[in-house]
Order: sequence, then structure tokens, then C-alpha cells
Amino acid sequence: MRQRKPLVVANWKMNGSLDLVQQMSDALSVLKQPLPDILICPPVIFLSYFPKHANYKLGAQNMSEQLVGAFTGEISADMLRTAGASHVIIGHSERRALYGELDSVISQKVKVAVDAGLTPILCVGETLQQREEEKTLQVLARQLDAVYAAQPHLLAHSVVSYEPIWAIGTGQTATPQQAQQVHQFIRQHLAQYDVQAADAVKIIYGGSVTAANCEALFAEADIDGALIGGASLKVADFSAICTMAKDS
Ligand code: PGA
Repeated sequence: MRQRKPLVVANWKMNGSLDLVQQMSDALSVLKQPLPDILICPPVIFLSYFPKHANYKLGAQNMSEQLVGAFTGEISADMLRTAGASHVIIGHSERRALYGELDSVISQKVKVAVDAGLTPILCVGETLQQREEEKTLQVLARQLDAVYAAQPHLLAHSVVSYEPIWAIGTGQTATPQQAQQVHQFIRQHLAQYDVQAADAVKIIYGGSVTAANCEALFAEADIDGALIGGASLKVADFSAICTMAKDS
């Protein structure tokens, strides 16, 4: 049996509605045990509308690297905790590409999240050009080192999500073998900081995961679950993915 319990994360991005909150919580509440760890990351405004004491947890898609103060439009780690979040996605490629988030800021966010008692889900991944130039592993090493080289103790409190940018929202998922190869590299790379934590850390995959392709991904030794965008907005699909993860 696999020693890392699978984790399935819904990243709604800037989508969803109160109707979807209701439909999703109803659908998840009737899923039968055993289940994977399930995490819903809706836009933060919806967090407080989810029922308490459910069979899933709640997370945010981003947070400020600052603790408090004059940062218009930002939300702090403590505020997310108050709103019911246990996890926070950090360094998603859309944040890196569209909002100019640099490795240094992402590193700070991971630290602030852990200090506040949140579990950061650190997203790393390469562009198509970087993959074609065979720079994938180099890019991932840089993104991981930016967070953990100076703060290796954060690894034991983190989840890592491998998200090849060319696979996000494109329908072009990495093959299970491609993903496994990278996940294995990530785990080996992290072992230089803390062997035990690297063995225990959940490394999930994101990028066009669907109910049709998730099973083969979950079967790989170092793929501990998935971060799901588009398919997490479809209640039946997301429920099916959760059901398949529990069996992996
Ligand atoms: P997708 O998004 O499932 O729609 O490709 C994944 C992600 O952004 O992590």
C-alpha cells in the first residue's frame, strides 16, 4: 500500500458561484469512504459559504507575502485561516506569468503560510519552450531551490504540485511516464534537503487532468494526487476523480 495518502485539489480559479458551492458540497458529502484527502480552492469570497465539518478541506489560490498593513486588495495568511482555509496554492504559473510573481516572493509566501499554520501547495513547472530545449529539470531545480535551499524545514509542511505550463488548460496532459519521471526527479532533488521529508511530501500533478486520464496518472509511484482546474468545475467529473484517487 502507498504510504502517502492521495490528495485531490480543486482549483476553481476565477470561476464558480454560490450554486456551484452548494452542488459541489452536496456531491462530495455523499461520496463513500475511503476517500483521498480532498481540497477545494474556490475564490476566497466563497470560503465561508461551504458547510463546516465536511469530508473535504478548503484552501485559497493565493495570498500576500505580507503579514498586515497597507496592501490594497491583498489577503493575509491569518485571514485565510479565519475564513476556514487549511491550505494555500502558491506560485501557480498564472500568478508567475500574469502577475509577475518571482521566485523570491513565492519563497516568502511559502514561509509566511507555514508560519501561519497553512499548508502551502507550491506549484512548479516548465514552459513548452523550456521542455523543448531540455531545460525542464534545470527550471524545476531553480524553482524548488528558491524556496527550500535556505529554508529546508518548510519542506515537511508543504505539498508540491508539478504543473507543466504547456499542459494547463490545453487538454494536452503530460503522459503518466513523463509526469512520473519529473515527480521522481523532484523527490530526489528534495532529498538533498531532508530525506525523510522528501519521502513523505505529497507531489501532485496538475495540467488537463480529467476523469478519463487521472487513473493512469494516479497509478504512478510518485504521483500522489492531482491539482485540477477545468474539470473541478464539473461536479460529476470532480467526484469521479476523487473516487478514483482513493483507489490508487
Ligand atoms: P487545468 O488547470 O486542469 O484546467 O489544466 C490545472 C491548473 O491550473 O493547475
